[in-house]
Amino acid sequence: MSGTGGRTLLTVRGLAKRFGGLVAVDDVDFDLDDGEILGIIGPNGAGKTTTFNLIAGALRADAGSIRLRDAEIAGLPAHKVAARGILRTFQHNRPFKGMNVLENLLVGAHRRVRARPWAAALGLPSARREDAALAAAARETLAFVGLGDHAASDVSKLSFGQGRLLECARALMGEPAIILFDEPAAGLTSVEAERLGGVIRGIAARGIAVLLIEHDMRFLLPLAHRVVVLDRGAKIADGTPAAISREPAVIEAYLGRHAGAAA
Ligand SMILES: Nc1ncnc2c1ncn2[C@@H]1O[C@H](COP(=O)(O)OP(=O)(O)OP(=O)(O)O)[C@@H](O)[C@H]1O
Ligand SMILES: [Mg+2]
Repeated sequence: MSGTGGRTLLTVRGLAKRFGGLVAVDDVDFDLDDGEILGIIGPNGAGKTTTFNLIAGALRADAGSIRLRDAEIAGLPAHKVAARGILRTFQHNRPFKGMNVLENLLVGAHRRVRARPWAAALGLPSARREDAALAAAARETLAFVGLGDHAASDVSKLSFGQGRLLECARALMGEPAIILFDEPAAGLTSVEAERLGGVIRGIAARGIAVLLIEHDMRFLLPLAHRVVVLDRGAKIADGTPAAISREPAVIEAYLGRHAGAAA
């Protein structure tokens, strides 16, 4: 099923993960298309982060299939999943300290470096050209996330919200097919969250698919093309934000309870 009319990029079927007697992810199915923003919501402990960890290869599934286009990726280690273009941002910003913002992006940009290491070591022109291309890509990416004026700033000078944007830029430098965001709006002011929402929309407009776990419905519902709802590991709904917001099971399991908890 498509939220954007794009091609199916990721196909998750029968995904399951147990921790001892606890079924953290229980027979979950969903699809994700090119350029689609798919929200994943559910109460605390519903299995959202575990689902991300299974997709990213940080955890191994007990059952099920995860196909990226036509290739099975379930069971691949995290670095191989990342090399195939599934990247994640972290709940806590992780900048490299003592560097400026641009250098921070260049340090993480392994996937784009195609010069052979010996060429770089010898300072050959081909390696220098690649360095220049990488720096240009990093500047373009900083401008894209709204940090264009901060390239030369020490990374410690960034606000928390700007640090989140830098994490987005870092993921983009890896030329991802899919970016996984786990509660990216947590801790942001409403202005910062709005800015981040704009960047996520821009990422999807580039054809990159986005999987977005988020508790803040004011952030998620206007952003997501489609939403999957998990409860106690199982998928209880899958549809447009408007459709899932009307489903009694969702209101009972999540929206109602969550609104009650927040009040
Ligand atoms: N490494 C682990 N070992 C044992 N149990 C775990 C582990 N990771 C998660 N769990 C359990 O699996 C269930 C699902 O956890 P998960 O972190 O996926 O939930 P979540 O939907 O991301 O919740 P939250 O909204 O609080 O982030 C929870 O009951 C959790 O305690
Ligand atoms: Mg979580």
